[in-house]
Amino acid sequence: MNLRGANWPTSTDEEDYWQKIRTSYMVADDEVYLNTGSVGVQPRCVFEKMISILKDVERSPIRNRAKFSDAVDEGRRRLGGFINAPPEDITFTCNVTVSINMIINGLNWRPGDEILASNHEYGAIDHCLHQAERRYGVVVKRASIPPTAGSPEAILDAFETEFTLRTRLVLCSHIFTRTGLIAPIGALARLARQRGALIAVDGAHAPGMIPLDLATLECDFYGGNCHKWLCAPKGTGFLYVSPRAQELLNHVIVSWGYSREGPKRDGDGMLRINGRPFMWGIENWGTRDQAVFAAVGAAVDFQEEVGKRRILRRGRTLAAYLREGMEATGWARLLTPSRVDMSGSISAFHVSGFENLDLYTQYRITVPSERIDGAHWLRVSTHICNGFDHVDRLIEALHEQRNG
Ligand SMILES: Cc1ncc(COP(=O)(O)O)c(C=O)c1O
Repeated sequence: MNLRGANWPTSTDEEDYWQKIRTSYMVADDEVYLNTGSVGVQPRCVFEKMISILKDVERSPIRNRAKFSDAVDEGRRRLGGFINAPPEDITFTCNVTVSINMIINGLNWRPGDEILASNHEYGAIDHCLHQAERRYGVVVKRASIPPTAGSPEAILDAFETEFTLRTRLVLCSHIFTRTGLIAPIGALARLARQRGALIAVDGAHAPGMIPLDLATLECDFYGGNCHKWLCAPKGTGFLYVSPRAQELLNHVIVSWGYSREGPKRDGDGMLRINGRPFMWGIENWGTRDQAVFAAVGAAVDFQEEVGKRRILRRGRTLAAYLREGMEATGWARLLTPSRVDMSGSISAFHVSGFENLDLYTQYRITVPSERIDGAHWLRVSTHICNGFDHVDRLIEALHEQRNG
């Protein structure tokens, strides 16, 4: 069934282009993969790059060490260009959970210090905050943002009212995990600065979904994932820390990137440890796989060739098509803000009238869902590995399940 009306493209040059892009991805032909928000699918060229590095490693693991360290630095340089941040201020991590842990457990806290977070943070990050309360005596306060906040100002107001003189750190997701809402991070960073607080951003979904410019956002800490929307190998994330905030951080894992003399500022103002940028020191966690990080450069190359703005445009077009189709059902309620500056390629819905929601066994559709108070929450990711037909198949399957 084709649900497309006259407003939506069917077979144009543009669609031929996207069809070609789609075949670059490794996902099986019979899968309808609408869950990049959990983890992305790699383009074949990225996967092959990772494998070629892994093969090289096994030929002579010790002798080739320096070569692989150079390859990781090159991956970091490419990532730095992609998010507009100096590579010296970026460390590779396994994922954004680790990045946020490195901040919360890397700062020195005084009992009574306050962390001001939104009420929409990811569950694992909330666990990290909970432990910080127990371990360091910090107080976690919440900016209460309605699920369908109508404007960036409403979000800023929700934070503004919770600041106190003890607020030391603001923590907010750039793109909310449950609703896909895009938070006004630049304005929030300015607000935090005015109030004398630091700001840490959980950017799990931003890199590869929306164009990122960390120089403009001016955050103290920004953690991101490369294995979601950037579609880099699994187990790749990063932590950016501004030069002024770096000296506030302790090593969470102490290894050879540590120095008993401590870090030192160079004549050029850069914080260094053992002669290397400080952020490259705290990245040293002992022996681990480096090929995944070296392959991040290939993921960046792939997306830059397509174009960051074009990727977001495509994600939003598919999302708009999806939202229109879901609205027409009468039993789906959109949870994602409809303002164009407040949402991207994630669309979340409450769908009612389903006993069980299993879209995989029969339809091979991967989409996260959860039963909440008699209805189901559904989060649909529309990335450049998807097409209009995937949306059609999802809506068709939902109709069938509801009526069957
Ligand atoms: C907002 C947010 N933060 C953090 C995470 C955790 O990502 P990871 O498991 O890659 O660290 C997720 C995962 O979906 C997320 O949505």
